[in-house]
Amino acid sequence: MPRHTVARIDLENLRHNYRRASELAGSARAMAVVKADGYGHGLARVAGALADLTERYAVACLEEAVALRESGLSHPVLLMEGVHEAEDLKLCEAEGFIVAVHDQHQLPWLESSPARPEVWLKVNSGMNRLGFAPADIAAHAMHLRRLGIRVTGAMTHFACADDPASERTLEQTRRFEAATSGIEGLSLSVANSSAHFRDGQPMFEWSRPGIMLYGSSPLLGTQGPDLGLKPVMTLESRLIAVRELAVGEAVGYGEAWRATSPTVMGMVCIGYGDGYPRHAGNGTPVRVRGTRVPLIGRVSMDMLAVDLTEIPGAAAGDPVELWGPHIGIDEVAARAGTISYELLTGVTGRVPRLVRPQS
Ligand SMILES: Cc1ncc(COP(=O)(O)O)c(C=O)c1O
Repeated sequence: MPRHTVARIDLENLRHNYRRASELAGSARAMAVVKADGYGHGLARVAGALADLTERYAVACLEEAVALRESGLSHPVLLMEGVHEAEDLKLCEAEGFIVAVHDQHQLPWLESSPARPEVWLKVNSGMNRLGFAPADIAAHAMHLRRLGIRVTGAMTHFACADDPASERTLEQTRRFEAATSGIEGLSLSVANSSAHFRDGQPMFEWSRPGIMLYGSSPLLGTQGPDLGLKPVMTLESRLIAVRELAVGEAVGYGEAWRATSPTVMGMVCIGYGDGYPRHAGNGTPVRVRGTRVPLIGRVSMDMLAVDLTEIPGAAAGDPVELWGPHIGIDEVAARAGTISYELLTGVTGRVPRLVRPQS
């Protein structure tokens, strides 16, 4: 017997969002970022739905790239964190995976391996996560090319592009341009989702949209639909109990919410064991019978409580939207002190994904 707690996945909305990214990328081509199981939507499903739109995919690691091949997709795939051992270079060459090289310790692997996969150099333009110093890029490109390695691209990643007021993105772009300007034959790539929305942002040859494909806003304080994006995942459950609380009665663990007036309370069959954030506080909206109502008390592993006082007739069995077209995931994330990326990738395996349209 199913529990009616499901994540509905709308692949038409995914395709709409890809087209939006592509339009914003201008003359650059948008490579679909599908890491972390397609941001929780299902890697093969998401990649398959974009197969005729995107020319290549970007993933974090080799396992994800292999999963794309196993699902029958033959597009080039960029491994944004590169490989983790020299051995993996052979598979990358054989499968047409493009390897990002970001650190000194990876160079001897390329020098000693008989494999010659296509390589992109990662530039540390200021985020200080991965990448070579800008001043060293030309020398690394020349060195690898002398070894017969095809160095075809360079990329960097922005630290603050989600904040439209930040000057950092422009500074990082300038450093990246300076680092790569004298090197022939490189495709350049800088833009994550948020950079697609920055006026005047150079996009170069390839952009790398991730979160925007799934309908969430990449910009601080903005909702996906404000940016022309459509939610791809709707997290849905049902009421499984409705009860009346008298003044002074509390709800759930720690008695974190107490009725100050007579209250009709509903229990919803979803909790942090499904990936709903435990830190979503009192007042986080959910939707029942077309009305936004507030979450009350602490989220449990398998349940959460909502205040149904404003919905006469609400009853066990009523569907509840936790996030989706009416309850923005960006709003839920803000209430829980996190970001939509964490919510989407955190929906657990216990929640069946129901896909529309079915393939
Ligand atoms: C190197 C790199 N490029 C692109 C992306 C896509 O970013 P977003 O999901 O913000 O569009 C990520 C995501 O973390 C990334 O690590």
